[in-house]
Amino acid sequence: MTIEEILKQEKNRLIKNNIEDASIIAKTILQNILKVSRNDILKTINCNIDEKKVAEYKNAIEKIIEGTPFQYITNNQEFMKLPFYVDEDVLIPQPDTEVLVEETINISENENKKEILDICTGSGAIGVSISYYIKDSIVTLSDISERTLNIAKKNAIQNKVEDKIKLIKSNMFDKIENKFDIIVSNPPYIKTDIIKTLDKQVQKEPAIALDGGNDGLTFYKILINEAPEYLKKNGCLCMEIGYDQKNEIIELIKQSNKYKKTYSKKDLSGNDRIVICYI
Ligand SMILES: C[S@@+](CC[C@H](N)C(=O)[O-])C[C@H]1O[C@@H](n2cnc3c(N)ncnc32)[C@H](O)[C@@H]1O
Repeated sequence: MTIEEILKQEKNRLIKNNIEDASIIAKTILQNILKVSRNDILKTINCNIDEKKVAEYKNAIEKIIEGTPFQYITNNQEFMKLPFYVDEDVLIPQPDTEVLVEETINISENENKKEILDICTGSGAIGVSISYYIKDSIVTLSDISERTLNIAKKNAIQNKVEDKIKLIKSNMFDKIENKFDIIVSNPPYIKTDIIKTLDKQVQKEPAIALDGGNDGLTFYKILINEAPEYLKKNGCLCMEIGYDQKNEIIELIKQSNKYKKTYSKKDLSGNDRIVICYI
């Protein structure tokens, strides 16, 4: 069987199973299995593919049909133009989160705030990107999950910032001791009941990365109430939020009586996406 034949066959299998972007997914996964670039695949399109690779490819396509996001098969997601390793132990970094990273980078540069804590770091997408783009930053990445922290470390190494970051396994602030200029977080924020109604792709992501408790606000309450203890003078808390959570979160900030200035920003689709508050 040639590369062209298997590609066509598996693409059609994806289409029959109503998988969006079938053509791109079929090609990306094959490139990944053959370890070749897009150009190389075109050059070798008439070559035969060996049986083992065919089996591996069909197996991967089967997983896609069952709902596995293709990033868990290729073990890669680009974020802030950087490559991130991902697998079933971490949330796949989302394009919307780039708004949070861009705003945090702006604050860091404009206000000379260089000591940064990324709490609930997951793959390290936020903290590693900040560390990469702000050369004189010192970024701490923390998460409750050991497996997740191993992936964050792998991503720090992959993006050559491992010498500038610290990793701490901590249940929210439990093991955090220092004070920071900025605390940034994209915590779990989906209401427990909603999780089972989401796309099957999202449900393949770790529940611990999604579940924000009954009201979706469990982690914001901890962040808003406890962050001031870990912030330096004029420090700020930068949070990603769910599209419908802005009012509730701003109310929590007001009720805490711990912050002087608060603002929010939208993502590229026009949804409220981040809230920033200064002590
Ligand atoms: C929504 S994911 C965010 C991952 C990453 N920051 C991103 O934006 O792609 C939330 C992360 O919070 C972590 N987490 C859940 N409960 C936690 C807790 N009690 N303390 C610290 N981290 C926690 C999960 O392990 C997961 O990695």
